[in-house]
Amino acid sequence: MKDIFTALFVEEMRKTTANMYRLGWDERNGGNISYLLDTEEVGEYLDLNHVIRTISLGFDATPLIGKIFIVTGTGKYFKNVDADPETNLGIVRIAADGHTTELLWGFKDGGKFTSEFPAHLMSHMARLSVDPDNRVVMHCHPTYTLAMNYVHELDEKKFTHTLWEMCTECIVVFPDGIGVLPWMLCGTNSIGEATAEKMKEFRLVVWGMHGIYGAGKTMDETFGLIETVEKAAQIYMLTAHLPRINTIRDEQMVELAEYFGVNYRKDFLNL
Ligand code: 13P
Ligand code: ZN
Repeated sequence: MKDIFTALFVEEMRKTTANMYRLGWDERNGGNISYLLDTEEVGEYLDLNHVIRTISLGFDATPLIGKIFIVTGTGKYFKNVDADPETNLGIVRIAADGHTTELLWGFKDGGKFTSEFPAHLMSHMARLSVDPDNRVVMHCHPTYTLAMNYVHELDEKKFTHTLWEMCTECIVVFPDGIGVLPWMLCGTNSIGEATAEKMKEFRLVVWGMHGIYGAGKTMDETFGLIETVEKAAQIYMLTAHLPRINTIRDEQMVELAEYFGVNYRKDFLNL
């Protein structure tokens, strides 16, 4: 059996949480990541018949039965993951009843997965239904995106359009736009259901006055989505109070989308 600490997926979790912390997106225990793993690959590192303990889910994840995720722990700090992955991360399998998880590794101090696991697993289900290659769901509290929530209308067309105007790459990176939810109580099945509903349409969902969710095929893709939104939100927050002399016009966004061959939300432009 190979050493789990050498697994690429553990390394990706360590590096990504460290990067997110460094960027100021994950203060204290803010943020969480879940990553759908390849069962065969996990089997190279862990005895899949050895369940350390079971942890109740509190909702129905039947479509994910047998699937294995590496996930950040609730109350755990992203800044500490790299130094102690076995305490701050866990590898869980969705049990045959669809309502329980089987812990295969990690959460060494008796901990459990993020309180946002409902939103994560429901988002995985939603994304997998439209993109069978989706693997990653990521949540964090990026500073400028959050700041923008307080001064910009929380309307998905307007929010997306403003961000598309802020960096030339935006419409190419997230042509599908950004879903927006109003402020809701976090950690609940309700916010999970609302997030998943948006995830059928968007890979990015803003949680009003809280943070953002991203989903993608790889850790890099997902990180890059949030990073691009955050960069655009930063430009917005640096310029929103100043007279606007120039902007990227809608016709130019169409030019970009057509040149790069992306399928963009035409109804989010004002042509
Ligand atoms: P957890 O510590 O349970 O992952 O919660 C952090 C968070 O960002 C809540 O939205
Ligand atoms: Zn949060």
